[in-house]
Parts: sequence; structure tokens; C-alpha cells
Amino acid sequence: MKIAIIGAGSGYLPGVLRGLLHRAGDLAGTELAFHDVDEPHLAVMARLGRNMFAARGAALTVTAHTSLKPALDGAAYVFTTFRPGGMAGRHLDESIPLKHGVVGQETAGPGGFLMACRSVPVLLEIAAAADPGAWIVNYTNPTNVVTDAVLRHTDAKIIGLCDQHVGDTEMWAELLGLPFDRLEADWIGLNHATWATRLRLDGAEVDLPALLEGLDVPGGGATPWRDPSRMAELARALGFLPNSYSKYYFFHDEVVRELREKGTTRAEDIQAMLPAYYAQVAAESGRSDPDPSRERGGGEHGEFAVDTICALHRDENRRMIVNTRNNGAIASLEADAVVEVPALVGRAGPVPLTMGALPRPVRGLTQAIHEYERLAADAAVTGDRRTALQALMAHPFVRSKHTAEKILDEGLAAHRAHLPQFA
Ligand code: G6P
Ligand code: MN
Repeated sequence: MKIAIIGAGSGYLPGVLRGLLHRAGDLAGTELAFHDVDEPHLAVMARLGRNMFAARGAALTVTAHTSLKPALDGAAYVFTTFRPGGMAGRHLDESIPLKHGVVGQETAGPGGFLMACRSVPVLLEIAAAADPGAWIVNYTNPTNVVTDAVLRHTDAKIIGLCDQHVGDTEMWAELLGLPFDRLEADWIGLNHATWATRLRLDGAEVDLPALLEGLDVPGGGATPWRDPSRMAELARALGFLPNSYSKYYFFHDEVVRELREKGTTRAEDIQAMLPAYYAQVAAESGRSDPDPSRERGGGEHGEFAVDTICALHRDENRRMIVNTRNNGAIASLEADAVVEVPALVGRAGPVPLTMGALPRPVRGLTQAIHEYERLAADAAVTGDRRTALQALMAHPFVRSKHTAEKILDEGLAAHRAHLPQFA
């Protein structure tokens, strides 16, 4: 068995290695082909992996590659976790929309659109170069636009991942005073725009409206990925649970003000801490039993990806929340939409479970985001400027042709080197 990891120099890799260690027994004998264009970071992660596996007696081997083909050749699974344009590109995605009064975010809105335009061509290249029959297991954002582009424009097999639902269920467990490890939420919708109307504790349905009725709205405690006070406020209004990214839709103008006041982008904040982070990982990678403690992404990130590969490979039919074709699972979205939904994952791929309609208060919003995503995927594949403009005009953050044009012109120019399809 061979698994290619594209973007293996990523700061998220230590968590992935931990996930691999966790399932080393199920993956015994596997070759992990690490690929990255950043040679020093690739070398650090390869050494970290080899030493971690050796210390724990895991039968996993690591090869390192800076060109794509040898990494992909013979790989049954291609795990994609790269960021084209790096943090510098992300900074542009986060700052250009903001100049024009629109939330600047790496995956949502015009920032996510620009990232899609950089990610999609690379994914198409990987889809074309991978072995026929290989599964692409994708974390590269925006994961659902990438998944949609690959599904509709290539013959490759792809499953789109995001671990946001794990963190969100954890946050809701805390807010609702329920034990996280006994809780299961059915998050449905689109990546970073999901909603949970159904929640089970030890398999039994929880009376969510009643719980929300008594929910206190706590003040403060917001981090970039958790805004409990706004989430609680929204959940009380909606009567069900929203994904953390819903704050960008329902508090758009307030978030724009806050982002402007903050002064630095998330990309700049991460860039400032990355040198120390990599130095620490590099130091740890040389030890005989490395244990990188300050990993990016948290525990669930890597395990979720490795568990997905195991579910496919071992035909586990495991219930997982993934991005795949709708096929009627969500009644309010078209059949070939890429949705995020609970699915049974086995050798034949994810089989989405029937979830019914989206709740009315967010049905139209989710459908609008879907129309944007469809146009974004097509623009990212074809490089057609008119489709790109339509995508931005369709996005609920934008609502203005002239704003859409300004962001598009500035974004395409700033990212020119990464956008061959628009040349
Ligand atoms: C969450 C999202 C990911 C996103 C990440 C960014 O996990 O689900 O899609 O890439 O946050 O985190 P960062 O630390 O890079 O801001
Ligand atoms: Mn995500």
C-alpha cells in the first residue's frame, strides 16, 4: 500500500503523523510518499515521521519527493493538504476583500474564491497524474469547491474533508453542558455552512429547542475559530445549531469592523509564529522519540484524515461527516451539488445518508452559497472572467457588481503568478 501526502511540509503534518501512528496496525507495511515544493520543511517532516514511527515500532516507511510524479506513482490514496501561494497568498485573500468592505476570510467569500482559483488547477494536475482508481482525500481549501471541480471536470475519485464539525460539536457540548464524547450531531449543508437540527446523546435524540430555550449567552471567550457568544445568540434565534463560520454571514458588518480594527490578518499572525513553530518541530524531529507538542490543527485534524483513508481502504462503512455528491441526501440542494453530510464511508466511497430538507431560516442562504460555489468551481477551472464575476456577484457577502469587480480585478492581479488559467 502506498499513500501520497501532497503538502507534507505543512505545519499540520505532526498531527497527521500522530493520526498515522494511531492506525499504524491497520496500515502496516504502507509507504508514505511525502511531497512538498518546500524542501527544508519537507525534510523536517520526513525526519520527524521516520523517528516517530521507529520509536513506536510502526511498520510505516517514509519517502520524500519534490516532484509530483514519483510521489503519485502507485499510490492508492492521495492525501492533499497544501496551500498554494502559502501564507503570503492567504494574507492577500484576507486583506483585499476587507479594503472593499467585505469580510476577508481564507475559505468564505471572495477570499475563498481567490484561494479556489489557486487550488483547483493544482488539484486538476494531481487528478490527471494520479494512478487510475486512486482516491484523492482532500483537505486543501476551499474543500468543497475543490471537490466539486474535480468531480465535475475529471474522472478522479475524491472525498472532501474538513474537521470543523468536530470542533463545533465540542464547543456546543460545552455550551449546552453535555459530554462531548457521548454526543453526535448531524451537521448538514455546505462546508463551513452547515447546520445541526438533530443531536443525539448516547444514541437518543436530544430535545434541542428546549435546551436552547434555557441557554445563557456567555460574553467574550472568542478565538479565531470559536465565538461562543455569537453562536449562542444565533442558535437561540434559529432554534438549531450553526457552524462557527455562520458568524460571517449573520454578523457580516460587525466582523468587517472588527477585522479592520484588529489591523493584522490571520495569515500575518500565523506567519509571525511559524518560524518558532518549525524550529521546535525541527529540534524535536532529531530526537529518538519525538513528541511535537505544539502541533497546528489539534488532535482531531490528522486522525480524521487517517480514519477516512482507513474507512475507504478497509471497507469499514464508517459514519463520517464528509464532502461528497448530494444524491438526494439533502432535499433542498441539487443532486450533483457537493454537500457536507453524514455518510457511510467504505470501499465504494462515501454513501450520503438521507437527511431531509434544510431548516427554512437558512435554506435560501445555503442555496445561494451553493450557487456561488458552483460558479466559483467553474471559474477556477476555466479561467473565464465573466463566470468569476458572476461567482462573486452571487456570494451573499458581496451584493454589489462594482464591489465584485474591484475585488476580482485586484485579486486576479495580485495572484497572477498562481493563476495560469486566467492568463
Ligand atoms: C479550521 C477550518 C479549516 C481551516 C483552519 C484554519 O480548522 O475548518 O478549513 O483551514 O481552521 O486554521 P488556521 O489556524 O490556519 O487559521
Ligand atoms: Mn475546514
